[in-house]
Amino acid sequence: MADETSLTDQIDTGRPSVARMYDHYLGGKDNYVVDRDAADQMISAVPESREMVRANRAFLVRAVHYMAAELGIRQFLDIGSGLPTRQNVHEVARAAAPDSRVVYVDHDPHAVVHGRALLATDKNTAFTQGDLLYPDQILADPKVVELIDFDQPVAVLIVAILHFVSDESDPAGLIGRLRQVMAPGSYLALSHVLDDPRPHAIGNILTASGAPPWHPRTREQILPFFDGFDLVEPGLAVLPQWRPPASDVVPLHRAPGSAEDLHWQVAGIARRS
Ligand SMILES: C[S@@+](CC[C@H](N)C(=O)[O-])C[C@H]1O[C@@H](n2cnc3c(N)ncnc32)[C@H](O)[C@@H]1O
Repeated sequence: MADETSLTDQIDTGRPSVARMYDHYLGGKDNYVVDRDAADQMISAVPESREMVRANRAFLVRAVHYMAAELGIRQFLDIGSGLPTRQNVHEVARAAAPDSRVVYVDHDPHAVVHGRALLATDKNTAFTQGDLLYPDQILADPKVVELIDFDQPVAVLIVAILHFVSDESDPAGLIGRLRQVMAPGSYLALSHVLDDPRPHAIGNILTASGAPPWHPRTREQILPFFDGFDLVEPGLAVLPQWRPPASDVVPLHRAPGSAEDLHWQVAGIARRS
């Protein structure tokens, strides 16, 4: 596990980082000019992209609440968690189930440093550096081993990260490796950008700015990521349509008057059979 000094040494402020750009989109302060410039270019090119990011985060919050409150899940492995933000997974889970345990994993050193600072005194929550491309390293991480019991149902969150994994890296195989260790009754929560001109325009800006490229996919390409799992209702849905809240407790953000604007990212939750 990397110590704080080596993590700080890894932070690159010369190129935009997805985690810090995402923080800027969500109104956070843990980002640099290079991140804000790249995110603002995206908003100029695709104005609804900020709403899409907020709708994704709102899905994650609804998903965690649903799994903790309605499905009885008490442990969460959040891979590609990003920087700590409002309504973190542990806060949402604990509002429903105070004994919930959460491990956040991100490969971005800046996210890990900030996450650890936030969680320093919390024994049931950890933030560790890990890469989805190396699931066995995540599973062997001491914090994961300490807090997650894979013999019991667990929620694995792969939210807005798989579109940063190329086909060459075998995203279905990476999820399949995680599925192997997940007890029956576990859940996978996933969101992914669709193959649409708008995400492609954003992808061009990401690449030009030196940020990692992304890989929008069709529904038909995303559905196999749930192989070995059974999707719960409503299946793979565009973000605003995945179990929209009945009240404003967990607000659903959408561009004024147009759910259409958010129809380029889909999400689903599925049960390990
Ligand atoms: C768009 S943010 C999503 C954050 C959070 N999951 C959410 O949906 O609100 C994507 C995050 O995935 C992280 N990420 C991208 N590729 C990754 C990888 N291969 N392994 C671990 N984290 C990764 C980025 O650093 C970033 O923090």
